[in-house]
Amino acid sequence: MLDVAIFSAKPHDRQFLSAANAGRHRLAFIEARLSEETVRFAGGAACVCAFVNDQVTAPVIRELAAAGTRLIALRSAGFNHVDLTAAESAGLAVGRVPAYSPHAVAEHAVALILTLNRNIHRAFNRVREGNFALDGLLGFDLCGKTVGVVGTGLIGRTFAGIMRGFGCRVIAFDPFPSEACTAMGVTYVPLDELFATADIISLQCPLTPETHHLIDDEAIAKMKRGVMIVNTSRGAVVDASAVIRGLKSGAIGALGLDVYEEEADLFFEDLSQTAIQDDVFARLLTFPNVVITGHQAFFTREALNGIACTTIANITAFEETGSVVHPVLPPRG
Ligand code: NAI
Repeated sequence: MLDVAIFSAKPHDRQFLSAANAGRHRLAFIEARLSEETVRFAGGAACVCAFVNDQVTAPVIRELAAAGTRLIALRSAGFNHVDLTAAESAGLAVGRVPAYSPHAVAEHAVALILTLNRNIHRAFNRVREGNFALDGLLGFDLCGKTVGVVGTGLIGRTFAGIMRGFGCRVIAFDPFPSEACTAMGVTYVPLDELFATADIISLQCPLTPETHHLIDDEAIAKMKRGVMIVNTSRGAVVDASAVIRGLKSGAIGALGLDVYEEEADLFFEDLSQTAIQDDVFARLLTFPNVVITGHQAFFTREALNGIACTTIANITAFEETGSVVHPVLPPRG
């Protein structure tokens, strides 16, 4: 039985992790985000369990290791928030949840596309106010449109399959093309061709030095005028200031975001009684053709159950064998 300090713990983490754990380990749920200020709350627990906006930086890792922590169990697929070099030199194992219902994130990307295209967010408000006018709600048929998928891993492939079901032509860019994707009729193209051809661009790649601000002024200039961009990957894949310029000029016709570069100061908290300090984010909220959700793409019962079961399996395997089931691999390429 290991002591596990679970940071950024929300009621759903308590519910799903406790059920998956079934008394196997001693779980301590800590509401605070992991950071240099809160790392002491880990209290020397053998395992620290972290989520996407926890700051698993070098100083945090050093302090954890010095206090006796041996494992960082991530409740996420992405690991861009972990200083892997520091973890390696401190001798800490890092596990993650590589695959949990790719449907959750893929379907959320589709939800953003449908909402933006058919103006559901605006129609909802109009109808509640007794305004049944259709002006400004005009959409387009998805059937026959070209969808560009950047990153065809588990989620990107699932997303591509759904869009094929809508009758879309799906093109993709990935340094490691997937045969499964090609088999479902997806065509791999160079990134610039994807930018130039796609009516809708969906980002499903991890955040790496190569994908940081992949969507910037230069990329937007290569896209079809009025393109729809949807990002459910990681916030920093998109340069938020560049997309604001693109929205103002009409270069971008619609934008759906589930992630935002500076989301750590905003998402997962109820800030409805406070003034938002992030002016870039506040500007994004003003556009009628922007829909933002607060990193909720993963938030389905099936995904939470998958995350909890794999996290506990990683911790149990580490206790029994000294290594986790799903170690964090060095980024490919
Ligand atoms: P995966 O590891 O199965 O696939 C990622 C794919 O991206 C791979 O095929 C890889 O070759 C490709 N890739 C790497 N560098 C690339 C580049 N420069 N350009 C284009 N493609 C590149 O990961 P999975 O499970 O499909 O997840 C994708 C990302 O989605 C995660 O890294 C994570 O950041 C994000 N995510 C977001 C969630 C949310 O709630 N919004 C939940 C889960 C994941």
